[in-house]
Parts: sequence; structure tokens; C-alpha cells
Amino acid sequence: MCGIVGYIGNKDAYPILLKGLKRLEYRGYDSAGVALLNGEISIYKKKGKVSDLEDHVRGKETKSTIGIGHTRWATHGEPNDLNAHPHHSEKGLFTIIHNGIIENYAVLKKTLMDQGMSFYSETDTEVLANLIEYIYTSQDVSVESAVALALQKVDGAYGLVVISTEDPNLMIAARKSSPLVIGLGDKEYFIASDATPIVEYTDRVIYLNNDDMALIRRDELVLKNMGSNGTSVNIQTLDLGISEIEKQGYDHYMLKEIFEQPRSIEDTFRGRIHPDTNEIRLGGLHAVKEQLVNAKRIVVIACGTSWHAGLVGEYLIEDMARIPVEVEYASEFRYRNPMIGPDDVVLAISQSGETADTLAAIQLAREAGALVLGICNVAGSSISRETHAGVYTHAGTEIGVASTKAFTAQVTVITMIAMMIGKEKGLLSEDRFAKLISELNNIPGKIEKILEQNEEFRRIAEIYKDATNVLYLGRGVSFPVALEGALKLKEISYIHAEGYPAAEMKHGPIALIDEKMPVVFIATRDSSYNKIVSNIQEVKARNGVVIAIVTEGDTAIKEMADHVIEIPETDPVLVSLPSVVPLQLIAYHIALMRGCDVDQPRNLAKSVTVE
Ligand code: G6P
Repeated sequence: MCGIVGYIGNKDAYPILLKGLKRLEYRGYDSAGVALLNGEISIYKKKGKVSDLEDHVRGKETKSTIGIGHTRWATHGEPNDLNAHPHHSEKGLFTIIHNGIIENYAVLKKTLMDQGMSFYSETDTEVLANLIEYIYTSQDVSVESAVALALQKVDGAYGLVVISTEDPNLMIAARKSSPLVIGLGDKEYFIASDATPIVEYTDRVIYLNNDDMALIRRDELVLKNMGSNGTSVNIQTLDLGISEIEKQGYDHYMLKEIFEQPRSIEDTFRGRIHPDTNEIRLGGLHAVKEQLVNAKRIVVIACGTSWHAGLVGEYLIEDMARIPVEVEYASEFRYRNPMIGPDDVVLAISQSGETADTLAAIQLAREAGALVLGICNVAGSSISRETHAGVYTHAGTEIGVASTKAFTAQVTVITMIAMMIGKEKGLLSEDRFAKLISELNNIPGKIEKILEQNEEFRRIAEIYKDATNVLYLGRGVSFPVALEGALKLKEISYIHAEGYPAAEMKHGPIALIDEKMPVVFIATRDSSYNKIVSNIQEVKARNGVVIAIVTEGDTAIKEMADHVIEIPETDPVLVSLPSVVPLQLIAYHIALMRGCDVDQPRNLAKSVTVE
């Protein structure tokens, strides 16, 4: 969601904040702002990208060694200069940046207005700034106490940083649900909503816990917990290189991340699959393996692309491990009084590990007594901490808002889980298991071959870039791939696209088919191959345009389809890994040709920390 950065030390704060905001821009990009404290507070804010803010600030006074910055993804109030963060209190004593939502802001605002306070923006954050100031001036307490008392009155989620002219050598950070990390330098501290702005200055970090409040001065950091937990200070070493968060010669992060997939998939299975002993070892699940293997039911909870990975998981786990699987949108699960109990294993999938709905669903499942496991990409994230056990995907930092390499890494992990259970239960023979391990090992090489066809994908994109609707169809594990292909296209090119199980086409989408609508089939060879060939014929019989992803050497579909994309032959269990790649690249090229901002599509955010 929004991005937070703060600096206190002896260096010039503004360049550090600006660079940090550029690194954080993938989290939100409708407006940006900085506040610099140098005796007085200077606040600069601008609707649009961080580069618009940079233009706006050029030539203005920026001297300061303490400051805060924010990139916004609007929740309360439209994106404009006024609603951008930082927000200041009425008298200007307090300035604040905030991620999350203050749910009772309307009630608080009314109370403050009744006390005569006035407001300039529509945001919940300004309400908090004024609440802090009101408590500070009316109760004669310290800056620290005013912030703590104000936060006691707040319902909702926050990751926030406050600076004040009343105590100009202090920066206060506080967290409830919305992540914050503090970087420890030499007589300097960095604070951010994720580690990307910090990594080039220090690798020593502290992730704040829920209800933590950090009082940060140049030579001192004091951590307190405002809840009942007490806080434990755990200094960690960042496992993140600067090269990971740069584009490294690619035009866009999304393109870089698509091309990283051979490596990110390999990083995800390396050290976990053991062809020599014919084993899969997932260290994070070791302690709960028995419970997992004997699960009566597995419930997957996730959002967006991670939900699609969960759907692939449903096919794989039911097929190989014979455990019934239900795949739930976290946002639905949490609000519908779900049937869940101690016999269930819940598998939460999340790239960021911070998605608010997934976190809330985890909480609910834990309270109901279920064993909750996580598949996360971001180490130390809230979801990885709130689950009982889990497996990290080692996809590396994903910055493009449209998820690509995280999806294939998630599918890799779920495949390993399904195989591990299947073998443990004696459902997969030693031979079949060995074959699957060797097939998994070969996936990166197969994806390399697909990436070599990028020019062909660009050519197909050129032909269909002006489409207004696109239908994606697949069966079995290729149905979630169809959903994911459609999601990629609509997210970044704003073309309406739908994914459907191919056979369901007859119950609705077939009515849409005409010579203008491209229909993308994922039609690789598996047990339902003949059925999908029939579906292609049904589309062709109605003058539809067919783009088909097929197994290398397929001649039958070549004769019917307008375009075929050949991918190397792959065991049907693993085929979603290579088959999604052409869809990612076609969406990328179409978006680019339509002049869309590929890495930062409108209205979307990388990590959705509000419901
Ligand atoms: C947002 C992102 C998607 C992502 C979804 C779930 O919508 O734009 O790319 O799939 O959130 O995020 P998570 O971090 O939980 O996987």
C-alpha cells in the first residue's frame, strides 16, 4: 500500500528520503510528500509520481537532518496535493505520515471539531495529527505521551511516523498491523515500511512488532510496547542486496522479474528437493509434517495472484496427496462465519506477507484452533510471523505491481508440498516421485526456452493490442493459469479479460465470441487434451480468433488456431509453471504498446494492507 520513509542522523535528510520514496514507489503512487524539520517544519507534497514531487521541491529549502516522506495509495480522500502525506496538525506542532486506516476517524474528527479544531484535508491521518496536538496542548504532557495517548483512542491499523517542533530531535514510530522496519546506522536511524529504502545504508534492522512504539533520537533508540506483549528487541541482518531492487538493464521491473523466473524457481526448490535420496525436505514444515500429512482437509486462503496459485494447489494436492482442498478468498472467508476447526490445516499464501484480509483470515483460523501454515515471499513479514509454520518462496524482492515470479515460486512450493505428502502417504510410487523431482529440476531450463521466444510474443501482442475483450480458457491446472493470464492483462493494459474453465465457455462466454475477440487457450497435452481441442473447434466454428499455448510438436491445434505458442513438453502436474510465462509476456507487451505504466498500473498497489 502506501510507502513510508524517515531519517534522523547527521546527513542531509532530503536526498535520502527522495531516494527512499523512489524505491518505495511500487507500494503506492498517486501522490508523494516530505516533511523536513529544521527548527521549523517544511512540508512539500505533490499529486502524481515521486518525480513530480522532485520537480516541485527543486530549488526550495531542504536543509535538515531529520525528515519523513510518504508515497500514497488513496483510501480516504481523492489523490491531490492536499490529501497527500505528510499531514500536519492545526497549529503545526505535529507532522505525521501514516499507512493503514483509522476506522473511527469520523467520530474522532467530530469530537475535535466540537472542540473548535479545523481540518484542511479529507484524510483520517490529519485527524490523528490533530488528536495528538489536542492531547498535547490540553493535557500538558510530553510529545511521547501525547502520541501514546492518542493511539489508545484509535481503532484500526497504522504504521506511522511522527515528528514535532516541540521536540525537534525526536522521531516517533508506531505500528499496529501495518509493517515498519528500523535501520540502524552510526548515530543515525532509518525507518521505512519495507527494507528497500534502507538496504543501501545498513543491513542491521529491527522489525517492529504490533503495538510497538519506537522513540528515536540520533544517539538512542528506545522501543516500548503499548500492548500486553512487552517488546523484544531483535536486531536482524537484512538478506537483501541492492542489485535485487534495481532494474539491471531491463526497461521495467515486471520484465526483469519475468526473466528471473528460471532462477527464482530454482532458488525456491534448491536444497529442498534431493534427487540423490529421492526426498523433498521442507525445513519450515518439519515440526508439523505429521499433522499436515494426516490433515482431513486443507483450506487455502489468499488474494489476487496468490489465490490463483492456491487454485493450482487444489488440483495438485487433491491429485497427489488425496486431501480435500478448498480455496478461499481471504476477504470472503473472514466475514462468513466459516466452518473451520482443529482438524483443519489452513494454508495462507501471500507474496508480501502483509495483505490485510489474509492476515485477518489467519487470525480467525488460529482462534478456531486450526494449524495455520504460510507460503510467503517476504522474510519477517507479518504473515510469516503470524502463522504456526511455513515455507518461504525464494523469489527475491518483487517490485512490479503485477505479480509474476512470486506466482511461479508459490506454485513451486505447493507442488513440493503436494509431492511430499503424496510420497509420505504412499500415494506416489518411488519411480513417479523420482520422475517428478527430475521434471521439476528441468523446469528452469524449459522456461529459458520459452523466454527465448519473447520476440514472437511481442509480435502476437502487436496484432491484438487494440482488443477490447479477451477470453482465457483452460482445464485442470490450466484453468487457474487462464485466470492468471486474464488478470495480468487487465491489471496492466486495462483491457477487459476473463478467465474461464474451457468447458464452462458454453454456459455464457460463448455468446461473446466473434471475429474481434481473441480467445487464448492453454491447450497443452494432458488427459483433457481432446476435450480442449473440441472447445477450440467450437470457438473457430463461431469465427473466433484463437491463440493457443500448446505442447511442442502439436500439429492438430496448429491447423485450427490462428497462432500457436509452443512450450516444451512437461509433466501435466507441473505445466502451469511454464505455461503462464507466455501469458505474462504477452500482457507486458500489450500494456507497453498501449502506453500503460507497466510497473505501476493505475489504482493498484503492490501490497494491500487495508481491507
Ligand atoms: C495485490 C497485488 C497482487 C497480489 C495481491 C495479493 O492486489 O497487486 O499482485 O497478488 O495483492 O497480495 P499478496 O502479497 O498477499 O500475495
